[in-house]
Amino acid sequence: MACPENMFFLIGLFMSGVLAFFGERGLIATMPDRLDVLTGSCVQIPCAFEIPNQKDYTFNSTILTFGVWIKESPQFAQSPNNVIFNSSKTDNRYQGNITGNMSQKNCTTVFFNVTTSYSDKYLFRIDSQPYRATDPDKSVNIDVRDLPPSPIITVSGEVKEETPVSLNCSAVAPCPEHPPELTWTLPTQFTPENQLQENPDQTKSVLSIVNFTPSYLHHEKNITCTAVYPVGTINKTAEHTMMLNVSFSPKDTSASISPAGPVLVGSCVNLTCSSTANPPVTNFTWFNISGGKPTQNSPVGTVCVNQTTAGEKPEEPAEDQPEEIHYGDIDFSKLRPKETPAAAQDRNRVQGQETQSKTGLRAQTIKTNDP
Ligand SMILES: *[C@@H]1O[C@H](CO)[C@@H](O)[C@H](O)[C@H]1NC(C)=O
Ligand SMILES: *[C@@H]1O[C@H](CO)[C@@H](O)[C@H](O)[C@H]1NC(C)=O
Ligand SMILES: *[C@@H]1O[C@H](CO)[C@@H](O)[C@H](O)[C@H]1NC(C)=O
Ligand SMILES: *[C@@H]1O[C@H](CO)[C@@H](O)[C@H](O)[C@H]1NC(C)=O
Ligand SMILES: *[C@@H]1O[C@H](CO)[C@@H](O)[C@H](O)[C@H]1NC(C)=O
Ligand SMILES: *[C@@H]1O[C@H](CO)[C@@H](O)[C@H](O)[C@H]1NC(C)=O
Ligand SMILES: *[C@@H]1O[C@H](CO)[C@@H](O)[C@H](O)[C@H]1NC(C)=O
Ligand SMILES: *[C@@H]1O[C@H](CO)[C@@H](O)[C@H](O)[C@H]1NC(C)=O
Ligand SMILES: *[C@@H]1O[C@H](CO)[C@@H](O)[C@H](O)[C@H]1NC(C)=O
Ligand SMILES: *[C@@H]1O[C@H](CO)[C@@H](O)[C@H](O)[C@H]1NC(C)=O
Ligand SMILES: *[C@@H]1O[C@H](CO)[C@@H](O)[C@H](O)[C@H]1NC(C)=O
Ligand SMILES: *[C@@H]1O[C@H](CO)[C@@H](O)[C@H](O)[C@H]1NC(C)=O
Repeated sequence: MACPENMFFLIGLFMSGVLAFFGERGLIATMPDRLDVLTGSCVQIPCAFEIPNQKDYTFNSTILTFGVWIKESPQFAQSPNNVIFNSSKTDNRYQGNITGNMSQKNCTTVFFNVTTSYSDKYLFRIDSQPYRATDPDKSVNIDVRDLPPSPIITVSGEVKEETPVSLNCSAVAPCPEHPPELTWTLPTQFTPENQLQENPDQTKSVLSIVNFTPSYLHHEKNITCTAVYPVGTINKTAEHTMMLNVSFSPKDTSASISPAGPVLVGSCVNLTCSSTANPPVTNFTWFNISGGKPTQNSPVGTVCVNQTTAGEKPEEPAEDQPEEIHYGDIDFSKLRPKETPAAAQDRNRVQGQETQSKTGLRAQTIKTNDP
C-alpha cells in the first residue's frame, strides 16, 4: 500500500527539480482573465509585469523595453503568425498601442477595430536587449461579440414603500475611450449619477446610481437600465429590465356586509374585510367596539345583532397600537369624510336601516411581521 505513495513522492521531487532547472518564470504578467469586447470597437487590456529573478536581470528603465503580444500559445517560433503585436514594429497584424509606460512595468495595451477573429487567448512577452521572456502561465481570453452584454442592476436592501433605495446599474467598458452611456426608465423622477470606475481586475465599467423613494403605486412596475455603446458611426444597445417588488402596508381596506339589506335584532350578518398589501394580509382582526376584544382573524367576521349592541357608539382606536397595525375603518353609524368607495357603497346599502345604522363596527387589517 505504501509503494504507490512513494512513487508519487519521487515523481513529485523529480518534477519540481525539472521546473527549478528549466522552467523558471522569467516574467510575471498581471492581466484580467477575460474581456468581453464589441466588434468594431477597441479593447484595452490592463497589464503589468514583474521580473522575478532580479539577479538575472536588473530592470533598467533607460533601456528601451518592447512589448509583444502572442496569441494561442507561448511557442511562437513554430507559428510566427501568432505574434500579433510587437511594439518595436510599425506594421503589426493587429492595430494597437502599448499605452502603459513600459519603464514603469505598465504594459497596458489597446487594440483598435476589433473583429470576431480576435477572439482568442493572448500572452505577453518583453523584449529588452538582452533580456527576453514570455509569461507562459498567464493569459487573457478575449471574447468578441457583435452585441454588448446586458448591464447589471443591483438594488440595496429591501424595496419598501416610503423608504429610499439606491439602484446601481453597471455596464462593462472594455474600450474606456468610448464608454457606454447609461440611461434609466423609472416610474418616477430621478437624478442619476454616472461615473467610469475601475474593477478589482483593473477593467473599467460605467456605473450609474439613482436614489428614489418607492410608493405602493410602483409595485410591479418595470424599471429599465439601457447601455448605449458608440461604435464608429452607430450605436449598439443593451438593456436590463426588472420588475419592482415594493413591500407595502395594507391599502384600500374595505368591509362589505352580507346579507345586504335590513338586519333584524337577533339575526346574524357576515362582514367581509378586504385589503391589498405586499406581502398579502394574513391576519384580519375584528374588533367588537362594545367588547373591545378581537374576535377572529379571518377576513370574514360574523356579528349577531342583539338589544345591547344596537345603539352603541364606536370607540377611537387605542393610541399605543404597535406599528404593524393598520386601520381601515368602516363605521356604520358615524360616517366620516375620508370613507373609501366600498364603505360608501355599504353605507348606501344600509341607509335608513334603523338597527344597522346604530351598530358601531370597525374592520381592521393587521400586517404580520415577516418570519
Ligand atoms: C542602465 O543602462 C544605461 C545604458 O546602458 C547605463 O548607462 C546605466 O548605468 C544603467 N543603469 C543601471 C542602474 O544599471
Ligand atoms: C519583435 O521585433 C524585434 C525587432 O523587430 C525582433 O527582434 C523580435 O524578435 C520580435 N519579437 C518577436 C517575439 O517576434
Ligand atoms: C500610443 O499611446 C501613446 C500614449 O498614450 C500616445 O502618445 C501615442 O500617440 C499613441 N500612438 C498611436 C499610434 O496611437
Ligand atoms: C498603466 O497605464 C494606463 C494608461 O495606459 C493607466 O490608465 C493605468 O493607470 C496605468 N497603471 C498603473 C498601475 O499605473
Ligand atoms: C515613463 O516612466 C519613466 C520612469 O518613471 C519616466 O522617466 C518617463 O517620463 C515616463 N514616460 C512617459 C511618456 O510618461
Ligand atoms: C478602423 O478601421 C476603419 C476602416 O476600417 C478606419 O477608418 C479607422 O481609422 C480605424 N480606426 C482606428 C482607430 O485605427
Ligand atoms: C452601488 O455602488 C456604490 C459605489 O460603487 C457601492 O458603494 C454600493 O454598495 C453599490 N450598491 C449596490 C446595491 O450594489
Ligand atoms: C415588464 O417586463 C417584463 C419582462 O422584462 C415584460 O414581460 C412585461 O410585459 C413588462 N411589463 C410592463 C408593464 O411593461
Ligand atoms: C447614439 O447615442 C447617443 C446617446 O447615447 C446619441 O446622442 C446619438 O445621437 C446616437 N447616435 C446614433 C447614430 O444613433
Ligand atoms: C357567513 O359565513 C359562513 C361561513 O363562511 C357561512 O356558512 C354563512 O352562510 C354566511 N352567512 C351569510 C348570511 O352570508
Ligand atoms: C415580493 O416581495 C414580497 C414581500 O417581501 C415577497 O413575499 C414575495 O415573494 C416577492 N415576490 C417576488 C416575485 O419576488
Ligand atoms: C393575529 O393578530 C392578533 C392580534 O395582534 C394576535 O393575537 C394573533 O396571534 C394573530 N394571529 C396570527 C395567526 O398571527
